[in-house]
Amino acid sequence: MPELAMITGASGGVGQALTQLLLAEGYDLALVGRSMEEVPDAERCLAIRQDVSTPEGAENAVSECIDRFGVSPGALAHCAGMVFIKPLHRTTPAQYRECLRANLDSAFFMLGAFVRRLMDSGKSGSAVLVSSVAAKIGIANHEAVAVAKAGIEGLVRSATASYASRGIRVNAVAPGMMRTSATERFFSGPHAEEQIAAQYPLGRYGSANDAASLIAWLLSEEASWISGQIIAVDGGLSSVRPVIKKF
Ligand SMILES: NC(=O)c1ccc[n+]([C@@H]2O[C@H](COP(=O)([O-])OP(=O)(O)OC[C@H]3O[C@@H](n4cnc5c(N)ncnc54)[C@H](OP(=O)(O)O)[C@@H]3O)[C@@H](O)[C@H]2O)c1
Repeated sequence: MPELAMITGASGGVGQALTQLLLAEGYDLALVGRSMEEVPDAERCLAIRQDVSTPEGAENAVSECIDRFGVSPGALAHCAGMVFIKPLHRTTPAQYRECLRANLDSAFFMLGAFVRRLMDSGKSGSAVLVSSVAAKIGIANHEAVAVAKAGIEGLVRSATASYASRGIRVNAVAPGMMRTSATERFFSGPHAEEQIAAQYPLGRYGSANDAASLIAWLLSEEASWISGQIIAVDGGLSSVRPVIKKF
């Protein structure tokens, strides 16, 4: 039953794709980003300018949503985060901190603010966080993001244990490479697109819609008996050996 959903990272690739899907499903939306301004439907959407990587920003985001719609959001899609690819030995302390702040701190504070208000209202709900294939399998030069996303996966499991009895579901999706504003720079070389696609058993890289449609489903009633799961959306990458059989 569509209701009120909050999407963080709403200005990004996955956030925008999810916005379209949830609007089509009938949700009202609180769209959160540090520079969020325009919304696709002013009647049903609220733009919230907050940095949810801070505790205050996350709490303010939920408060602004409640002020406008009169209820706390029953669905949270936490799409805020950053793609950071650099070998460990060349990653500066500042880059590491920034990667953890954008990915892990934001998930921790945002999920906390969401759950707190849901508990105050006595409502059940559903949250979906975004991990990465790099948290499950070793991918070179992904050390900082692997640390951050592995933290998110632990957060999903512990929060499931804490809040399942209150009817609050917590899951994550774990995408492989999706072509969005965050990754466009990796597609610039002459053969980059083919090389990236060739890494995936299904023969293509991902789109924002691949992750967004899984998130939308996890938020829906159709997934009402699913919690504590990390679901890969990675063209099969994390489940097969790296050598792909050629026919
Ligand atoms: N693209 C991929 O290949 C890929 C692969 C695996 C996982 N992921 C994960 O998928 C999620 C979405 O990625 P995407 O490709 O859609 O990235 P994106 O287009 O860069 O969108 C991410 C959004 O997060 C917001 N953001 C960044 N830092 C923030 C912060 N500190 N506080 C609040 N918002 C912040 C930004 O919005 P504002 O600037 O408006 O705040 C940005 O628009 C991320 O968690 C990413 O790590 C992506």
